[in-house]
Amino acid sequence: MSIKLGKTKNWGSRTGKSTPSVKNAEISTLDLLKAAGLSTELLQSLVENSEIAQSAFSKILTDREVLNNENSSPVKKYFSTDMGVLYEGNCFTVLSNMDDNSLDCIFADPPFNLSKEYNNGLQDKMSDMDYLDWSRAWIDLCIQKLKPGGAFFLYNIPKWNISLAPYMDKKLSFRHWITVDMTFSMPIPSKLYPSHYSLLYFTKGDKPNHFTPPRIPIKTCVKCGKEQNDYGGYKNKMNPAGINIRDVWSDIPPVRHNKYKNRDANELSIKLLDRVLDIATKEGDLVFDPFGGSGTTYIVAEMKGRRWIGSELGDCSPIKERFDRIKEEQERLIEMRKEINTLFTDKALRLRVKSGVGLKHYNIPEEQIERVFGKDSPLILSESGLH
Ligand SMILES: C[S@@+](CC[C@H](N)C(=O)[O-])C[C@H]1O[C@@H](n2cnc3c(N)ncnc32)[C@H](O)[C@@H]1O
Repeated sequence: MSIKLGKTKNWGSRTGKSTPSVKNAEISTLDLLKAAGLSTELLQSLVENSEIAQSAFSKILTDREVLNNENSSPVKKYFSTDMGVLYEGNCFTVLSNMDDNSLDCIFADPPFNLSKEYNNGLQDKMSDMDYLDWSRAWIDLCIQKLKPGGAFFLYNIPKWNISLAPYMDKKLSFRHWITVDMTFSMPIPSKLYPSHYSLLYFTKGDKPNHFTPPRIPIKTCVKCGKEQNDYGGYKNKMNPAGINIRDVWSDIPPVRHNKYKNRDANELSIKLLDRVLDIATKEGDLVFDPFGGSGTTYIVAEMKGRRWIGSELGDCSPIKERFDRIKEEQERLIEMRKEINTLFTDKALRLRVKSGVGLKHYNIPEEQIERVFGKDSPLILSESGLH
């Protein structure tokens, strides 16, 4: 077993049966709240309103400096914000200290067991059987901690998700196998060139608590802004807020540019997390990512007003440093979000007008025309529509 998960086959708490989690220790949430020094008045309202009790519980978790699990070493709080907390250590310990049914959304991007160098002493090479056993163990714990109606996203390579999807399907409701189109490795002799990741999307129970996918712009030529696909003849009937998002995502950029890279490998684009959290959460929801890496999930959750809990077994300093530079991340997110819920990006509109493709027949909101071409643009004044 190469990723440092504890001793052989001891993933932390596989079943959660013998761990000192709040439930298993048979300490009621109320006792904990009392111990935390909450007023009788507040306690009364907590008892009456289990929703509030739930969020108060996660507050107690976020207030704890050390988490314990008898099967693996204690985990220390690394830093916290008003919205979340990062623990340095094994996700099994963090999970086993959570209340059951307390998470609104889980996003997990585990190591892919591809012998990758993590530069933190972790080795990423188990036998296939061990890797799948380990994956099922943390998946089981996650399912236990997910609220009914909560969403569970698992990002991995198809080789693993083809086995893990049927496993999750026995316990959760399948919603999508999302293909994230991206070249991710060297060509492999005698195989096709691998160029997509699989993003599994399940919910606990049939009915998702939240499902609000963003709409996306029409795909256009980078040189002239012309449509790349034929969307049918009725341009004026197209929703000005954009087209429906499909289950093939080919607009997620890899994080390559050094300026945006927060550590050596594996950082996901904030665009991916922004989309996932848009789809499955609302403000104030509690998001958990067991595998911190560079902290993409946490920083996006923070910027979007979602509460979050994280764990990272290796070096947590890149995550903290990233939070110290949250302003830069915010600027990037704002730029990226200009490209959702619109039929054309501002850039595509500019290109279309410049190259003579025009905007005729499309319904483009006046505010966007004004923003891109100015208040006095003839495109606004033209009665015969846009051209
Ligand atoms: C693929 S990376 C995650 C990248 C992350 N999604 C991002 O955008 O930066 C997986 C991370 O999981 C961490 N890890 C591996 N086993 C772990 C465990 N049992 N508990 C917590 N973290 C673990 C590794 O150190 C690695 O940083």
